[in-house]
Parts: sequence; structure tokens; C-alpha cells
Amino acid sequence: MKTVIIGTGSFAPPRVVTNDDLAEIVDTSDEWIRTRTGIVQRRISEGPGTTWMAAEAAKRALEDAGVRPEEIDIIIAATTTADYCFPSTACEVQGILGAGNAVGYDVSAACSGFIFALHTMDALIKTGTYGTGLVIGADNLSKTVDWSDRSTCVLFGDGAGAAVVKACESGDRGVICSQLGSDGSKASVLTCQARSMGNFLTESRPEPGYIAMEGQEVFKFAVKKVPECVDSLLRDAGTDIDEVKYLVLHQANYRICESIARRLKISMDKIPMNIDRYGNTSGATIPILLDELNRQGKLCRGDKVVLAGFGAGLTWGAMLVQW
Ligand code: UT7
Repeated sequence: MKTVIIGTGSFAPPRVVTNDDLAEIVDTSDEWIRTRTGIVQRRISEGPGTTWMAAEAAKRALEDAGVRPEEIDIIIAATTTADYCFPSTACEVQGILGAGNAVGYDVSAACSGFIFALHTMDALIKTGTYGTGLVIGADNLSKTVDWSDRSTCVLFGDGAGAAVVKACESGDRGVICSQLGSDGSKASVLTCQARSMGNFLTESRPEPGYIAMEGQEVFKFAVKKVPECVDSLLRDAGTDIDEVKYLVLHQANYRICESIARRLKISMDKIPMNIDRYGNTSGATIPILLDELNRQGKLCRGDKVVLAGFGAGLTWGAMLVQW
């Protein structure tokens, strides 16, 4: 049984915040942000949060796939910025869509989340447990950044992406293989403290935590681990990198993507980018990019594509898909 992506969708809130806008609230500049990260602007959700964006992306993916909500068996949402500790984002989206025959739950792997969710979906589909699934990557990091910390607040944006998948018994299309990794010993380099930190029988209600990051540590980890993981994935699949049309990489920093391209000895033409328009939307970057490629007609039947992500945990993962 193969897991085939039959539709994609994405959504970003309408409010555009440029680098110049940020230069008015913290000591930064358009020039610093562009040259260090490749980011020019990001979208920020001013009101509704992750569920709203996830549901909008899901609706678009369902429309693209020609699948009705009641046909979905399972919804897996990857997010670390759910609107609530509970219910899960997946259950909320299920309610909005009216996907009454589905089961829904979330996975948490930060910026690697979409790969982890799609890997989980693929494993469930391969066993024959489910036939039609919806995988979502959605994050609302603007509500978790400290808007006075220039070292992090310029990096992130809000958005969501989704893919509808279907079990197919025959054919070459679909997920070929995937590899995931995590290293909890490095958990402290990228954190955001949970909001449920009140203490038993005391009045103490700590302030919510913000994103805290050792940027250079994350940078070094990403440019080492991602190429290693992609190499290992392709070796397992018996696929040469030249056979891969696109490496759809987590959009965290243009320079990280360039460095990964150099290490894999591939041209940046193979690494589509949209970080300039969205910034780092965490679990949403990969499915948003995939949706853009799909809608631009850049993915043809038979194309091999590698999806690869990295992020807090530390986590990383890569997946080889035949379109
Ligand atoms: O999805 C995964 C999550 N995160 C990432 O992938 C992030 C990975 N890391 C990075 O992308 C980069 O490390 C950053 C973009 C975060 C930072 O770039 P960098 O080239 O590593 O800069 P740096 O941290 O070494 O800082 C260089 C200078 C410092 O000033 P001094 O000490 O040299 O005087 C910073 O204080 O840049 C300063 N700086 C800024 N200046 C203007 C830091 N942030 C800003 C800013 N505007 N926004």
C-alpha cells in the first residue's frame, strides 16, 4: 500500500508585516534581516489563531483533492502553537470541516512537525488502518515570540499548509521512504515554555514563556544534520540526488538552505524558496511550499521530491515522495 498526496492547500493571514515595520519596534534593519535570513516580510495573524489557519488550508487541500470532509478517515495536525492545550487542533479542524467520520490528533515536532505527521500517516496507511487522510502543518508563532527580542522576533511568521493523502494499492506514486531523528540532549537550544505552568494550591501564575533560541547552535545543527539525513534517505531508497527534482526544505534561513545545497552538491535551482514572503512559519513552511509548487504546476506525475525539516527537540526528518 502506498500513501499518495492527492491534494494540497495553504493559507496565511492577510496582514503583511515588513522588515521596515519591525525596524520601528526593535533595533533592527531591513538590510540586516534580508542579508542574514532572506526574509523580506511575514504574515501575522492579528486575531484568530492556529485552528483558523489550519482549517482554511485544509478546505483548500480538500477542494484540490476533490475529497468531501466526510470521506476523511484521519486528521493529523502538526503544531506547537495550538490555540488550546486541549482540544487538539486536529479535533477542532474536524469540527469546522464536518469531518464526522475521522479521528483526529496532533503531533508535536516543531519545525519538523509536518514530516513527522506525514510519516505517521504513511505508517498508518501502509498497515491498511486508514484509507484517506488529512495532514496539516500549522503554526501561529507570532503569539509566542517576544516582540522586544530582535534576535528572534524578526524570524517568524504565521501560516498553515495541508495535504490530502489516499491509500493506493498499485503504481509508483506516493511516499517512498522517510527518516526521522531527534536529540533531546540538545533540547535547550530552542525552547518555548508551556503556558500551563500554574502551581498547585498557590496563587502563582507565571508569565507565559517566549521563544528562546541559541541561533548559531540551531544553524550548525541544521547544516550538518539535514544533508546527512537526506544522504542516508536517498542511499536507502537507491536514488541518486540527480533524480530528485526538488528538495522542499524547511524555510528557516536562506543561508541554511544555501549551505545544505553546497553540502549536497546541488544547485539552489533545486531548492525552491518562499522565506522572503512568509518568514519561518515552523510546521507550516514545508506544506505551504509544497502547495505553491503544486499550484504553479511545477510538480509533474513521476517527479521525485524530497521534503526535509529540522527544528526544536532537536528534531529532523526527510521524506522521499514520487508525485
Ligand atoms: O526553524 C528553526 C528555528 N530557527 C532557526 O533555524 C534559526 C537558525 N539560526 C539562524 O538563522 C541565525 O543564527 C540567526 C538569523 C538567528 C542569526 O544570524 P547570525 O548570523 O548567527 O547572527 P548572530 O546571532 O551571530 O548575531 C550577529 C550580530 C549580533 O551583534 P554583535 O554581537 O555582533 O554586535 C547580534 O546582536 O547581529 C545582532 N543581531 C541583530 N542585529 C540587527 C541579532 N539579531 C539582530 C537583528 N537586527 N534582528
